Amino acid sequence: MKGKLTVDPTNQISKIDDRVFSALIEHLGRAVYDGLYNPGHPQSDENGFRQDVVQAVKDLNIDLIRYPGGNFVSGYNWEDGIGPKNQRPTRLDLAWRSIETNQFGLHEFMKWTKQTGTRPDMAVNLGSRGIDAARNLVEYCNYPGGTYWSDLRQKNGAKEPFNIKTWCLGNEMDGDWQIGHKDAEEYGKLAHETAKVMRLVDPDLDLVVSGSSTREMATFGSWEETVLDHTYDDVQYLSLHRYYDNEENDLHNFLAKSIDFDEFISGIVAVCDAVKARKHSDKTLNLALDEWNVWYHSHKQDDETAPWQNAPHLLEDHYNFEDALMVGTMLITLLKHADRVKIACLAQLVNVIAPIMTDDKGIWLQSIFFPFMQVSKYGRGIALTPKQTADTYDSKDFKDVPYLDSLAVYNEAHHEIVVFAENKGEESLDFSTELREFSAQAIIEATQFCGYDIKQTNEDQAMAIHANDHVSLTDNTLRTTLQPLSWNMFRIQVKD
Ligand code: AHR
Repeated sequence: MKGKLTVDPTNQISKIDDRVFSALIEHLGRAVYDGLYNPGHPQSDENGFRQDVVQAVKDLNIDLIRYPGGNFVSGYNWEDGIGPKNQRPTRLDLAWRSIETNQFGLHEFMKWTKQTGTRPDMAVNLGSRGIDAARNLVEYCNYPGGTYWSDLRQKNGAKEPFNIKTWCLGNEMDGDWQIGHKDAEEYGKLAHETAKVMRLVDPDLDLVVSGSSTREMATFGSWEETVLDHTYDDVQYLSLHRYYDNEENDLHNFLAKSIDFDEFISGIVAVCDAVKARKHSDKTLNLALDEWNVWYHSHKQDDETAPWQNAPHLLEDHYNFEDALMVGTMLITLLKHADRVKIACLAQLVNVIAPIMTDDKGIWLQSIFFPFMQVSKYGRGIALTPKQTADTYDSKDFKDVPYLDSLAVYNEAHHEIVVFAENKGEESLDFSTELREFSAQAIIEATQFCGYDIKQTNEDQAMAIHANDHVSLTDNTLRTTLQPLSWNMFRIQVKD
């Protein structure tokens, strides 16, 4: 098999926004309790924050943390999570049918973001609550002092405002599973009024309005149109969510779902632009893909989990090697939409459909950790339009699927071209990257992630990224062989 990527610096998609490397942390299962927060654990500091988790989060170079949900936020009273811990109420969390002790709340979260070098992306409850709770929360977080809520924040130990910039107007409000689910008309009006009032408190907020929770929703597309009719001028971002599975155990169809992902994003962009045209607006709306991942391994176990537990094992997918390939191809697809996808949150980060897992002994890194870590670390700069030729295959649901998925990023500051390439085939693939206009100087690094059984998981920490020593650079062209079913990265020093 053969594949070629031509890299031309004049053919740019866009600068990649740092917020594309963000994640969701929800009060769900063992994400917060046991995950981030575990007072008394040998790895925890005086705040109860697991330091091994903090380090792994730093290794992933995460930017925003979307919090506190997810479905959880639609039944959450944010006031339950502030003030002295021994006075905080224990409540039923109806979204996940668990016990919520509220020992971790707003102040703990803000402190944790500081430790991890991340920034908050705060969701407000537009399910069981609404405008009043949202405006009070903005006042509590962002108003300097001298009012009821800002003084309460100071009394609770935060003299300076949190100055939270990015806010989500609810979560998956199109889904009938959501607490306080609404139709598009109801939600659109509520989101508009909530945005207006939150901005009266703090005019500088960036707001994200809820879009479709999956492409399969009957309201997909029309939901966005109606909601944006009400909110187009109020918000900076429209949210969209996408999870994939391999329930049918068909590797090639699974990896081909990146085509669906691509079409999903393009479809939402088209809807945004149609509303823009209809409104004669000058403003272009960008996207917050604020939940994406593979999710399916834990469904059966979750169905059997007894309700009303503290920090139950929920959504604990153990990811295998084919999931890592799927996450790799989703990352490349995301970067192909860098012009419109400005926020993307891997869902989630710790223990719950997560790259980082904790147990009594410490942490272990899932297979999906590796491609995410590489793209987050080196996929910074300008995404270049991929001009690619490759052999193709047909799968159950997709035709003409390239075996090769590839993209180059130009990091101007480091004079570096970084190529991400995945071979979705079970044979090796002769791969070349021709650099047009650039003068290639040297290969800084060439790595490959491959050689594992597609069903292998990583509890024993056997997986690692290895060097690829069989790479040549002549005539401005990198040449190598991509191993069967492999995730690859090449960093090339260039003179421009
Ligand atoms: O990430 C898990 C759940 O998936 C979130 O709570 C919800 O928003 C989505 O359906």
